Amino acid sequence: MSRQRIAVLLNETIGTISPYLHGEFAEHLGECIYPGIWVGEDSPIPNIGGIRRDVVDALHPLGIPVLRWPGGCFADAYHWRDGIGPRNKRPLRVNYHWGMAPEPNHFGTHEFITFCRLIGAEPYIVGNVGSGTPAELRDWVEYCNFAGDSALANERRANGADEPFRVRFWGVGNENWGCGGNMHPEYYAELFCRYRTFLFNYSDTPIHAIACGAAGSDWDWTWKFLNALKRKGWSRRHLVNSLAAHYYCGTAGTATQYTTEQWTELLCRAKAIEGIIIGHRTVMDELDPEQKINLIIDEWGAWHPAEPDKPGWGLYQQNTIRDALVAALTLDIFHRHCHQIFMGNLAQLINVLQSLLLVQEDRCIKTPTYHVWHMYAPHKGAQAVRFETLSDTLSDGGAVRDFCRQQYLQREPFSLQVIEGSASVRENTLCITFCNTHPEQPAEVEVLVMGATVQEAEAVVLSADDIHAHNTFEQPERVKPSAPQPVRVEGDRLYITAPAGSVVRILGKLPS
Ligand code: AHR
Repeated sequence: MSRQRIAVLLNETIGTISPYLHGEFAEHLGECIYPGIWVGEDSPIPNIGGIRRDVVDALHPLGIPVLRWPGGCFADAYHWRDGIGPRNKRPLRVNYHWGMAPEPNHFGTHEFITFCRLIGAEPYIVGNVGSGTPAELRDWVEYCNFAGDSALANERRANGADEPFRVRFWGVGNENWGCGGNMHPEYYAELFCRYRTFLFNYSDTPIHAIACGAAGSDWDWTWKFLNALKRKGWSRRHLVNSLAAHYYCGTAGTATQYTTEQWTELLCRAKAIEGIIIGHRTVMDELDPEQKINLIIDEWGAWHPAEPDKPGWGLYQQNTIRDALVAALTLDIFHRHCHQIFMGNLAQLINVLQSLLLVQEDRCIKTPTYHVWHMYAPHKGAQAVRFETLSDTLSDGGAVRDFCRQQYLQREPFSLQVIEGSASVRENTLCITFCNTHPEQPAEVEVLVMGATVQEAEAVVLSADDIHAHNTFEQPERVKPSAPQPVRVEGDRLYITAPAGSVVRILGKLPS
């Protein structure tokens, strides 16, 4: 057992934690949409108008704030008209990016909006820039959002939706430096302005336009894209509401087989997202000092080799307690940087990459990452306060140190602490979340709360007896959070034991 200390400074507020930092992403890829969400009305699997009931029941309690769709790479090959109207008349297409799989188009715009409403998420639609046209995207917005009288709005009504969908978040392409068209940033900047010019506010819901940002630490893209807008005349900058970077921490070992060194390596890679945020904001702030443009990370997560019994292009992976720590570390970083980042979307919702749920036939299981989403929910919309880890260093970044250093523009050394976390306050509730990143040693953690006396506190702990532990269809509850347990409070200090490789959430009561 090691002894570790952390400090929470209640009087040092960072900002409001945007609920959108706990966003999600669902792409027409592998088994995410079919059968992860959509099974069809005639399926023996219980459904709500074709949408799986077990998935809705599992996701609704999470209060997922935003769901990005239909891709990913799929978005720049998707034509929205394929996915409206009677389902038996929709064209069968090929999913070019993902295994040339058949795309029946049974899950289209109306089904997506219905799903969002069922789980309580705000829709975020990514438009097709790579193989589409500005008119196609403009028409999709009008179809979705126009409250007045027009052929497109009336077509929506004929398809069953009298009221506009009021979709606020629109992505102008995806990874246009790669699968979205292999463009240079300056060329994309021209295209962005062209597409954006025709994204009209068709209802009382103003468009929030999201531009394609860089892959990881490719600051060059960010700089050249923003600089190209600046050269066009700075007013163009205001067409961009957010810039969306992507960062996958990748893998070390496989999804379920890794050494303790590989455990730590993956967590170091996950921690590097802090450098991505700082690096991007540094570049953005130089060109946009008033911070008119928000930073989004709209794809992130672990990317392991696909399970051996699944096709590689389907990106189906298991999800262990190590992935739960990847999720927890990342959300904690988002909270600590909530003044710098507006939205984050985990890739992806179901059956693909670091998913919340895995489904098979009529069964649906919650992954360890799902439990982190649930445990961390009290942070959404709360005021982030300073969290300082005074704990030991677990790793200086190891194999990824140079990569991580480069991501910190200031060239700060990179390290992973034994305890990494965040804290927030809402009214008289203090929420502290942290990981014990050590794969083998439990930690006796002393939490110093500065600024008020905690009256009482309780904790929920997500841990496992094996660092490879995960849930399966045979053993769906192997990894799940503990029941709430009281935390020892002594004056301005809290004491709790964090098992090796665990995620902890403390809810404390502050004086009103
Ligand atoms: O999430 C899987 C893929 O990763 C997405 O389609 C693409 O945007 C990214 O490269």
